[in-house]
Amino acid sequence: MRELARLPLDQAAFRDRYGPWAVIAGASEGTGESFARELAEMGINLVLVSRRQAALETLGEALKAEYGIAYRAVVQDLTEDGAGKRIVAAAADLDVGLYISNAGADGFSSFFEDSADAAHRLVRMNISTLIDAANGFGKGLLARGKGGIIVMASGAGLGGQPNLALYSATKAFEINFAESLWAEYHERGIDVIAVGAPIMLTPTLLRLVPEGFDVSDVYAPADVTHNALAGLLAGEPLQIVPDGPGKEKLPQVLADRKARLVGFIEFNKMFTGG
Ligand SMILES: NC(=O)c1ccc[n+]([C@@H]2O[C@H](COP(=O)([O-])OP(=O)(O)OC[C@H]3O[C@@H](n4cnc5c(N)ncnc54)[C@H](OP(=O)(O)O)[C@@H]3O)[C@@H](O)[C@H]2O)c1
Repeated sequence: MRELARLPLDQAAFRDRYGPWAVIAGASEGTGESFARELAEMGINLVLVSRRQAALETLGEALKAEYGIAYRAVVQDLTEDGAGKRIVAAAADLDVGLYISNAGADGFSSFFEDSADAAHRLVRMNISTLIDAANGFGKGLLARGKGGIIVMASGAGLGGQPNLALYSATKAFEINFAESLWAEYHERGIDVIAVGAPIMLTPTLLRLVPEGFDVSDVYAPADVTHNALAGLLAGEPLQIVPDGPGKEKLPQVLADRKARLVGFIEFNKMFTGG
């Protein structure tokens, strides 16, 4: 497994800013489970969303026993029409301070040879559901004056990639969407971060790669999700974990994107009068 230095994270400050409830879309395993574990350790209650009730209940009960948190399991397929609105409705009676858009992986495909149906399902999960959930939870965060949204994107969203046409395109949407929300709401107390995640050892990855795949060069999900939580609290709009061809250039890409965003916050005041 590849090493990733963990960023410092003040747990009390995190709980105060993003508790008492967090919602994780795609929570039963992989990075969703890593987010759930670290949030539970901080004493934050959880709405756990995925397709498998039994997996959510097993995780929720384990975290409740270990950390004394409350949880709610919500069974929802994120690729369905209206999924985002149903997740917001399922948590409407809770004081939600954090929404995590986690699930969003896809396998390698050949765009012209495949049917477009699978592509539309990915668009619904990574775009439509994210839009509705961010819009619904964002209204609540604005009303309470603090909170956050984490969008698990991918390094594949920084540019096109062969055999990942729709995946790359939806991840680019996620990154631009999260950066834009960061720039729009940062000064109003709402934090938004996109994670340009690297290849990580999750159950989904293991289902997608050929047998015998060398996992020595992949990251541990819990390291990446820890840094996402720390980056959110630190007020960062985007995190990129260097991976793939040209990875040495990514720290500069990250710095350039942030400088551009900061510039646009001032530039936009000409138009919004803010
Ligand atoms: N793993 C990597 O190497 C890698 C690299 C870069 C970026 N990422 C990004 O990191 C995020 C997490 O990736 P991951 O590898 O952990 O796999 P993932 O398949 O995106 O997420 C797995 C979790 O999401 C749930 N889930 C999957 N599809 C769902 C659906 N249609 N409706 C509801 N829940 C669903 C699964 O639970 P159920 O089976 O119970 O529904 C499980 O809890 C994704 O956004 C992915 O794009 C991953």
